[in-house]
Amino acid sequence: MGLSEALTVVERARALDRPAAAARTAVQRVLRNQAVKDALHGVWLGHPLHPSLAQFTLGSLVSASLLDAVGGRQRESSTLIAAGLATTVPTVAAGWADYADSHEEQQRVGIVHAALNTTAVACYSAALVTRTRGGTGRTASLTGGVLAGLGAYLGGHLSFRRGLGPNQAESVPHTASEEWQPLGPLADIPDGEPVARDAAGTAVLVVRRGEHVDVWSDRCPHLSAPLHEGELDCTTGAITCPWHGSAFRVDDGSVLHGPATAPMPGFDSRVVDGVLQARVRTFPGVPAG
Ligand code: FES
Repeated sequence: MGLSEALTVVERARALDRPAAAARTAVQRVLRNQAVKDALHGVWLGHPLHPSLAQFTLGSLVSASLLDAVGGRQRESSTLIAAGLATTVPTVAAGWADYADSHEEQQRVGIVHAALNTTAVACYSAALVTRTRGGTGRTASLTGGVLAGLGAYLGGHLSFRRGLGPNQAESVPHTASEEWQPLGPLADIPDGEPVARDAAGTAVLVVRRGEHVDVWSDRCPHLSAPLHEGELDCTTGAITCPWHGSAFRVDDGSVLHGPATAPMPGFDSRVVDGVLQARVRTFPGVPAG
């Protein structure tokens, strides 16, 4: 069985649902503060924080294993292990924050990814402890390297095959029509209530407030939820995603709260003979010239 087939088995393993759900509940209990959650998701960064931190943590740890594998100097290897372990806490916290707002299949892979990485961290810690007692810690370091490599493979699968992290609305500015498309009579758009319309095959979210109309992609950038099913707060001008609670400003499409980190792709709108029309903006949030 190849790695890809093994991953399919993991994704379908219902036996993982109980520990995965327990982990999700525990994370949700601990991570209640919205500002902390937003920081860990990477809202301030404009893309997920976990992969960026993991590059440093894993890069340092696996480099130490490589040094140990080729008989490099223990001092440099230990420095790399210490640097990797020092960044483990924020890396893990950001990973768990993303995990708590993911699909079932993603959580099954995520729990195995976390278990591999936790064991790898334990191995590297053991290597350092062994060295303080005069041992080489080489076996623990090499074992940690193998486990961390497997963990990284699962992390890549989660992001690039299962789509946890990437902007799910990225394709909209490239696939939606740049020509004006009719969305139906303006009179049919309710005031203060998000509705869905079809713009030549692209689902759009229409928000009317009085005579002002905003049109955005209806696909949540986090995991593609239909945003028109979300809650609109006319006082704050925010729409909240029905699936995991990301909030977006309907004036400019920007992210107010994660887990989404990318803005909603926007559409220009106008009314011609009482009919609302829209065309996609090439760059999200930037009106066409
Ligand atoms: S799909 Fe997850 S917040 Fe919208």
